[in-house]
Amino acid sequence: MRAFVVTKYGSPDVLALRELPYPVPKPGSLLVRVRACTVTSADCRIRGLNVPRGFRQVMRLALGGQAPRQPVLGSEFAGEVIGVGAGVTRFALGDEVFGMSANLGAHAELLVVRETAALALKPASLSFAEAASLPFGATTMLDFYRRGRLAPGEQVLVNGASGAVGVAAIQLAVAEGAAVTAVCSGANAELVRSLGARHVIDYSREDFTLGGPRYDIIVDAVGTAPFARSRLALRPGGRLLAVLADLPAILSAPWQSLGNYSVIAGPVSERASDVQRIAELAASGTLRPVIDRWFAFEELPAAHRYVDTGRKRGSVVIDVAGEGR
Ligand SMILES: NC(=O)c1ccc[n+]([C@@H]2O[C@H](COP(=O)([O-])OP(=O)(O)OC[C@H]3O[C@@H](n4cnc5c(N)ncnc54)[C@H](OP(=O)(O)O)[C@@H]3O)[C@@H](O)[C@H]2O)c1
Repeated sequence: MRAFVVTKYGSPDVLALRELPYPVPKPGSLLVRVRACTVTSADCRIRGLNVPRGFRQVMRLALGGQAPRQPVLGSEFAGEVIGVGAGVTRFALGDEVFGMSANLGAHAELLVVRETAALALKPASLSFAEAASLPFGATTMLDFYRRGRLAPGEQVLVNGASGAVGVAAIQLAVAEGAAVTAVCSGANAELVRSLGARHVIDYSREDFTLGGPRYDIIVDAVGTAPFARSRLALRPGGRLLAVLADLPAILSAPWQSLGNYSVIAGPVSERASDVQRIAELAASGTLRPVIDRWFAFEELPAAHRYVDTGRKRGSVVIDVAGEGR
C-alpha cells in the first residue's frame, strides 16, 4: 500500500510517497481503507517541528529526535472497514467510519486503528471528504468547551474563526445557545456569518482586547490573545480557552486561574463519544463541513505547502481514493 512518509523534519519536500507492507490488524484493531483524509495544522507542525515556544525539545522526546518515529502523518480520516482483529465488537466489516487515528498514519491508503480510538460510523448524508474534514477541529472544541463549562446564553469570542478549529468553535457554541463574535480577516467575514456568528471583528482594523464588549469565553486559536491581553475583554468569571498556547502560558495557567478568571490550555483528549456527537450534529445539519481545497493523494506535499501558509479556511482534504469532489 502507498503512504507518504517523513524521513526527517523539514519543509514539505521531506514527504516521500513509498510502498509499505500491507498492514494486518492486531487484536482489538480495525483495518480501514482510507477514502479521504486531511492535512491539518498539526500535521504541518509535526512535519516541520514547528511548535510553540518551549515545546521543541519536549516534542523531539515525544515524537522522535531527527524524524517522527511514526513516519506517516495524518490523524483525521474517513474510510471503510476492510479487516478486523480478534475481539473487535464496536465495528464490523463494511462499516463506513470516520474519526481521529490516535497515532497518526492516515496519510496512507490503509490505516490500522484501535476500535477504541475516537471513531464513529460516518453519517450517510456526508461524503467521505466531508466526514474527514470534521473531527480535528470539532473534537478540539468539544473538549475545550467541556473544560470551559460553556453554557447557553453566554457570549463567546472566537479568535482565529476561519481555521479548522475556529469554524468548529463557532458552530458548536451556537449549537449550545451561545452568542458568537468571530475575529477573522474581512475576506472571511461572510463565511463566519454563514456559520452563525452574530458579530464579526476584522482583526486588521480592530483589536478586541482594547476596550469594547466583554465575553464569558474567549477561544484563542491563533495565539495572539494570551491571558495578559484577553483579561481586559473577559467578564468576571470569564474563561480563556487557549487552544494555541506556548509552554510558559500553559505552565502559568493554574496561577492565572486563581482569581476571577480561568485559563484553560494544553493538549486535547480525543474521545469516541465526541466523534459520535460530531456525527449526530453533522447528520442534523447543525455542524457543517467547511472544505477549503481538495488535493489528489499524490499532491499531498502541495497540500502541506498550502496549510503552511496559515491562511486556509476550515479544512484541506486529500482525496485518497480518487473519488473526485
Ligand atoms: N491544544 C491543542 O491540543 C490543539 C488542538 C488543535 C489545534 N491546536 C492549534 O490551534 C491552532 C489553530 O488550528 P487550526 O487548525 O484552526 O489552524 P488553521 O486552520 O491553519 O488556521 C488558519 C486560519 O487562521 C486565520 N488567522 C491567521 N492569523 C490570524 C489572526 N491574526 N487573527 C485571526 N485569524 C487569523 C487565517 O485566516 P486569515 O487568512 O483570514 O488571516 C486562517 O483562516 C493551531 O496553531 C494548532 O496547532 C491546538
